[in-house]
Parts: sequence; C-alpha cells; structure tokens
Amino acid sequence: MRGTGFQSIVVLTGAGISAESGVPTFRGPDGLWEGHRIEDVATPQAFHRDPALVQAFYDARRAALARVEPNAAHRALAWLDAEWPGDLLIVTQNVDDLHERAGAARMVHMHGELKRAFCLACGERQAAPDTLSDGPACARCGAHGRLRPDIVWFGEMPYHMDRIEAALAACDLFVSIGTSGAVYPAAGFVQGARHYGAHTLEINLEPSEGTHVFHEARHGRAGDLVPLWVGALLEG
Ligand code: APR
Repeated sequence: MRGTGFQSIVVLTGAGISAESGVPTFRGPDGLWEGHRIEDVATPQAFHRDPALVQAFYDARRAALARVEPNAAHRALAWLDAEWPGDLLIVTQNVDDLHERAGAARMVHMHGELKRAFCLACGERQAAPDTLSDGPACARCGAHGRLRPDIVWFGEMPYHMDRIEAALAACDLFVSIGTSGAVYPAAGFVQGARHYGAHTLEINLEPSEGTHVFHEARHGRAGDLVPLWVGALLEG
C-alpha cells in the first residue's frame, strides 16, 4: 500500500506514550508507582485485602485524567487512523483515555479503562462515576459498594485477546511504542507478529527488554518519533 508496501498495521502502546502528557509510567527508577508497589494496588489480592486503598488509588488516577491532554504521539496515531486506507488496530495497555481523546477509533484497551467500572454483584460493565470509594450504586442491579475499577490486574485475563491475536497474525507491520516489554502477553506480541511475517519496529525512550527481537528500533521521545514515523508512512 502506498510506497511502503504495508497493508495491515498493529500498533501496541504503553505508558511511555502518555509520559509526555504527564501520566506517570509504571517502572520508574524507584520501582514504585506513584508511591505504591504495583502488587499493593494492582492485583485482585490487593483489592480483597484493602479495597479502600485500591479504590482511592484508582479514584485519584481517574481524577488526574482531567488534568492531562493528548500529546503529539497520540495525535499522530489518530491521524494514522484517519488516513490509513488499510487495516489498523491500535492496542493500548494504557487505562487513560488519551488515544480516544486525540480521535483514534480503531483501538482497544487490553488492560481496561479508568473511566469504566464493573459490578461484582451482577457483572455489568458500565461508565464509572467520578469516585468508587464512596460505594455508588450499580447502574443495572442497584447494589451499593460493589463496583470495582474495570482494570485488568496482574493475574487477570487481558481483554480483546481474540481480536488482537487475529490482527497480529494478519498484520505486515507491527510497531511497539512506549512500553518496557516487561508484562505479558503484550510483551510477546512482537514474537507473534514476527512469526507470521510482519516487519517489527520499536519506538521507545530506551531499549526495551525485548528490543533485540525487533527488526528495527528507534530510541527517543514518542512525541518526537511517532509523528515522524506516521508522516513517513502516510507520505511513503
Ligand atoms: N517516549 C517514549 N518512551 C518513553 C517515554 C517517552 N516520552 N517515557 C518513558 N518511555 C518508556 C520507558 O523507557 C519504558 O520503557 O516507556 C516505557 C514504559 O514502561 P512501563 O512503565 O513498564 O509501562 P508499560 O510497558 O506500559 O507497562 C505495561 O504493566 O503495570 C502494568 O498493566 C500495567 O499496562 C501496564 C503494563
């Protein structure tokens, strides 16, 4: 397609694409995530042990979305979505809403969304109210205090895996942006796409844990590199 020869693209994004918007990444130099160990806030066991802590943590992150905006990398992917005539699937591990606020539509949230909740009483997925700490009622069954963040925690099954695996098998270009390659299954997508014959490109601030698996790697800020990559692809 166009001068590039590619038809079908899968883009995987991680916390690094939102870093320049002011959303903290997970694996900072201190190993903490906004002052918490990941195991204390992002596992079903943590929620069982201390639901108030976990709800307060996600309530704060949901509230913080109002103070951040999409950056040039999100906008470039939305531009790609609008202009690319072939197949495209943007798979984000991020639970923020910056891709969709930039205008991307052909995308899935494999680790859930801060702005969604689900009811532990009836299973209904729904828009999250601003805070879950105060035990709001489920929009479907009316139970109070049973909504949890619709976030995929460690030990839980990521969403949309059938669709993602089909897209990986069919794509001829796989691009990973702003992810450390530390968390599976997302960290294994590059091997899957390569296995099926795709060209693979990493765009990250620094070499990821799986950088050697990619055909090509570009290291620097997503806000600089993603618009350049998208521009070249659309003009190629
Ligand atoms: N541009 C590009 N890459 C960046 C930038 C930037 N401006 N800033 C940071 N990065 C890179 C970092 O170098 C790091 O390799 O983004 C990566 C972010 O890695 P993580 O913090 O580990 O985030 P991610 O890979 O998305 O984590 C995966 O782990 O905690 C779970 O479920 C959570 O979805 C998350 C998953």
